[in-house]
Amino acid sequence: MKSLAILCQKGGVGKTTLVVNIAKIYSKNDIKTLIIDLDPQGNTSTYLDFDKNNKNILTSQDLLLGKTQKEIGFLEENLAIIPSNETILKFNNEKIVGGSILQQKLKSFVFSNFDIVIIDTPPTMSSLVQEAISASDFYLIPTKPEFLAIEGVSQAMKFAKETISRQISISPIFLGVVLNQVDITRSSYIDFEKELEYLLADKLINSKISNSAEVADSPFYLKTVDEFDEHSKSKKEFYKLAKELLERMALNEKIIEQSYN
Ligand SMILES: Nc1ncnc2c1ncn2[C@@H]1O[C@H](COP(=O)(O)OP(=O)(O)OP(=O)(O)O)[C@@H](O)[C@H]1O
Ligand SMILES: [Mg+2]
Repeated sequence: MKSLAILCQKGGVGKTTLVVNIAKIYSKNDIKTLIIDLDPQGNTSTYLDFDKNNKNILTSQDLLLGKTQKEIGFLEENLAIIPSNETILKFNNEKIVGGSILQQKLKSFVFSNFDIVIIDTPPTMSSLVQEAISASDFYLIPTKPEFLAIEGVSQAMKFAKETISRQISISPIFLGVVLNQVDITRSSYIDFEKELEYLLADKLINSKISNSAEVADSPFYLKTVDEFDEHSKSKKEFYKLAKELLERMALNEKIIEQSYN
């Protein structure tokens, strides 16, 4: 099992959109996938139409309290979710001392059945995001190509590095920065991309997600991009990204069948 945290303190950059769409593609392609929502907003459940307040299902609050007795909620055969709600706000101010609770819990037998765990995080620099980083093998930072985004990405990278350097027991790998809501017709885009390439080199993920109506509209119909429009450009882009992330995590023995190269 490998775990991947998606983080950025900037709101609305597409963290949850990436989590649900990538998770859906993996699960559809026989990769046993678990989503853990560490955002008190609980948006992953809303995107996937999952009842985040079901008392019988394991929640991220249970995990953070160190309890794993409850059942894991399944959306379909290869896709499970540990939802969150505002109750986890209380964990937000607690400083992490030593190891992470989540990190220890993910090592347990229950979770080893999954191929990949994808963790959604809140748009903050908080102990909840630190929990996610500490529990992960990899982390990925999404950003929109816009003014102040470079600053936002640098701050997110610094926050992750500081979190990692404070704990000797963890060494998650920075997978890179992924551009979301790209509009190549914008005059600033090429300059923006060049600057990011200069700063990040191979840590700029090659696959990009365009700004599109499919991505914005699919949640209204409780669908992911994959289910919304069979032949959309967004679907192809998400498949490409999902594949590239697997390769970067060296999980590419799990082949995504539906290739759009
Ligand atoms: N590529 C895209 N094209 C069009 N709309 C998008 C795209 N990606 C995300 N959006 C829209 O932008 C909004 C914010 O996306 P999302 O909820 O994934 O961001 P987030 O980073 O998780 O936000 P938060 O920081 O509040 O958790 C949503 O309405 C989503 O549908
Ligand atoms: Mg979100």
